[in-house]
Amino acid sequence: MNSLELNKACAAVLTAGIVFMLAGQLGKVLVHGEKPHESAIRIGDVGASAPAAAPAAAPALEPISGLLAAANVDNGRTIAQRQCASCHTFTEGGRNGVGPNLYGIVGAPHGHVEGFNYSAAIKGKAGPWNYEELNAWLHKPSSYAPGTRMAYAGLSNTQQRADLIAYLRSLAANPQPLP
Ligand code: HEC
Repeated sequence: MNSLELNKACAAVLTAGIVFMLAGQLGKVLVHGEKPHESAIRIGDVGASAPAAAPAAAPALEPISGLLAAANVDNGRTIAQRQCASCHTFTEGGRNGVGPNLYGIVGAPHGHVEGFNYSAAIKGKAGPWNYEELNAWLHKPSSYAPGTRMAYAGLSNTQQRADLIAYLRSLAANPQPLP
């Protein structure tokens, strides 16, 4: 190889190098090489976000105690006539139907009617029917007392339950004090 050819070869290598370098620079300009400020996958957050991803527990039932003072007893009576009267009576000394008479139910023990054939689910409950027990029961009888014989799906509207329970409270000579 003479010196001219050597020069050519060197020039070729040099040119290739320059072209390669320029192409790299051009690529950087054309394709924004900026790194995203935040990584799309936030590995550090996995622990923190895990509880949100966990299956949500059944939402706690909204209490009705605070709604009772202003509850609409007349509306409660209407609900009782429509949804409960096929099985229950509400007057003092009223007969039992499919379900027991409900006069004086607020503050009475579970299974308050002597001689009524209650299920073990109701007989097994200790303590009196207070406002929040009635709230849970009327929201969903089958959850409050699994195995109950009360074939009633439940009243999901919180205000309507408050109205109904305020009406049940009124079924007494001396209604229980408000909470
Ligand atoms: C299909 C008939 C039926 C309907 C409708 C029904 N109940 Fe009952 N209810 C029953 C039966 C039966 C029992 C006894 C449950 C048991 O022993 O498990 C009962 C029990 C109860 C008790 C417990 C009584 C006690 O002495 O411990 C309350 C309170 C009650 N019902 C309220 C209501 C209200 C309020 C409604 C309307 C929103 C209603 N029920 C609708 C049949 C019914």
